[in-house]
Amino acid sequence: MNREDFLMLQDDIIYLDSGATTLKPKVLADTISEYYNHYSANAHRGDYDISLKVDTLFGRTRYLVSNFINANTNEVAFTNNATDTLSKIVWGFFEDYLQEGDEVLITKAEHASNVLPWFELKKRKGITINYIPLDDNLKVSLEQVEKSITEKTKVISLAHVTNVVGDLRPIKEITKLAHEKNILVVCDGAQSIPHMPVDVKDLDIDFLAFSAHKMCGPTGLGVLYGKEKLLKQFRPLIVGGGMNSSFEFDGTVIYNEIPHFFEAGTPSIAAVIGFGAIIEYLDTIGMDRIEAYEKELRNYAIQKLKEVPNIILYNETSEAGIITFNIKDIFSQDLAIYLNKYQICVRAGNHCAKILKDDLGIKNTCRMSLYFYNTKEEIDKLVSALKNPNIKEEIL
Ligand code: ALA
Repeated sequence: MNREDFLMLQDDIIYLDSGATTLKPKVLADTISEYYNHYSANAHRGDYDISLKVDTLFGRTRYLVSNFINANTNEVAFTNNATDTLSKIVWGFFEDYLQEGDEVLITKAEHASNVLPWFELKKRKGITINYIPLDDNLKVSLEQVEKSITEKTKVISLAHVTNVVGDLRPIKEITKLAHEKNILVVCDGAQSIPHMPVDVKDLDIDFLAFSAHKMCGPTGLGVLYGKEKLLKQFRPLIVGGGMNSSFEFDGTVIYNEIPHFFEAGTPSIAAVIGFGAIIEYLDTIGMDRIEAYEKELRNYAIQKLKEVPNIILYNETSEAGIITFNIKDIFSQDLAIYLNKYQICVRAGNHCAKILKDDLGIKNTCRMSLYFYNTKEEIDKLVSALKNPNIKEEIL
């Protein structure tokens, strides 16, 4: 779908690494270039036309992003990326909210950004981190979540879709269960928001993190969503201009309301305005169409990959367009380098999910990750390269 919008696809590249970052449609660079060339004023500071234009477009992106996830506009703040958002949630909210002995539930399939902040909090506050066991398909079941909850559980922090297994977690059901027990739910949406319609009110999640660059948008821009009553309880993390309304020599400070409270300093204005154009772009295609098309591609890829001799598929039953594999007796990075000869881009390694290895049975894998601009023909080319009877000789 929409391949003509991506200039990089005019070179014969087969890009299967959208889980790392997606390609960008031309409208992104055009919108950013327009800002830099024609109205590159600061935001929230000027009383002249081009500055007011910046304010309008900046606010418009916030409005578009809020609509995109069905949040209120004051519940959406801009950050640097999903990692930044998750760390901010932990330091800005949970460091005060949690007490020694309180328990956090995560899984071993989480990305580093949803593990390491909790590790740090464990060191600083003496919280306990417990892991919800994964089933044989590396998925999380509601039953296992329920069994893992104790009287001390205060937060469940999970990816909506994981970046190696590509499984879609039953977040709505998990949230319902959690809220019955006064447990808060943090959702890492980095791998879900770009690929399917997500409604934060319907899921009833308390916090959500995602990145613009994984959904055709600019790098260096992330989103923090939180329920208003929770965002209002954050401690100030980054302080300075733009997030205060007044301060005096004696140290009295009045901070701005959310979401401005989270946006100290000159923001990534070009990125935010570019992201607005991207949200409109995705809305025009339709997130339900993107989801359906990626499902079709995934099913096709799984069926074709199963024909490859010596392939090991780690997540055949998952839902998202992330397929993780190895070829027996070939190191995953060697395989990625081999595929590069055919201009096929996949990611190899542990994909920042470094504690998944015990459940996965291996440390490193190759990962292909699909987006709406991929095609069945590209999958055929990947499969053909993998079926090469001389694959081992070519690698050695
Ligand atoms: N988190 C990104 C990935 O999974 C970089 O590839």
